[in-house]
Amino acid sequence: MRITWLGHAAFLLEGSKKVIIDPFITGNPMAPVRPEDIDVDYILVTHGHGDHVGDAVEISKRCNAPIICIYELSVLLGKKGAETIGMNIGGTARFEGLEVTMVKAVHSADVVGEEIVSAGDPAGFVVRMDGVNVYHAGDTDVFMDMQLIGELYKPKVALLPIGDFYTMGIEGALKAIELIKPEIVIPMHYNTFPPIRQDVEMFKKRAEKLAKVVVLKPGESFEI
Ligand code: NI
Ligand code: MN
Repeated sequence: MRITWLGHAAFLLEGSKKVIIDPFITGNPMAPVRPEDIDVDYILVTHGHGDHVGDAVEISKRCNAPIICIYELSVLLGKKGAETIGMNIGGTARFEGLEVTMVKAVHSADVVGEEIVSAGDPAGFVVRMDGVNVYHAGDTDVFMDMQLIGELYKPKVALLPIGDFYTMGIEGALKAIELIKPEIVIPMHYNTFPPIRQDVEMFKKRAEKLAKVVVLKPGESFEI
């Protein structure tokens, strides 16, 4: 499997299937691609905030790819014309060559426009493809049940937010690694905007005592 960081919380996972998670491309100052360059089979969205839904509807329509997300958000995105698969926390959606388990996240998830609209709860995902389990934590603080996610799904790779302010910062992410026990950690959700500026080298130095840390630049890939 090839894991490519597209900046912020956006990742492309390529193996038997092509999967994009939280495709925030338009308006993402770190995005190394254009939304029309994305070619995927499945789209995963962790929660309803704009920096995670991003270009999901446009990509879904163009690629004929379903958006997999929590049920309430799937109804909202369905009204915009996307093909959706609405699931819920603890459940696994099984496809040929791909399994997606939705797990808990500690965050908010309403959509704020003219009015505040409920978009269901925030979530993370464990993606299983070609024998590798990858945990994308979404936007979240550290929580004790990350230990359960580690025990139940044994993710080899954990994609963790470290930017602070909207999610956990370095201290939280270090504790998260202790609970999840992944082999490899890739940090995300930092340096996109001034409030989430983070010293990723400091994170790497400290986290390397717990796991292999792979710091990607936007557009860079890691093969596993
Ligand atoms: Ni968020
Ligand atoms: Mn976010």
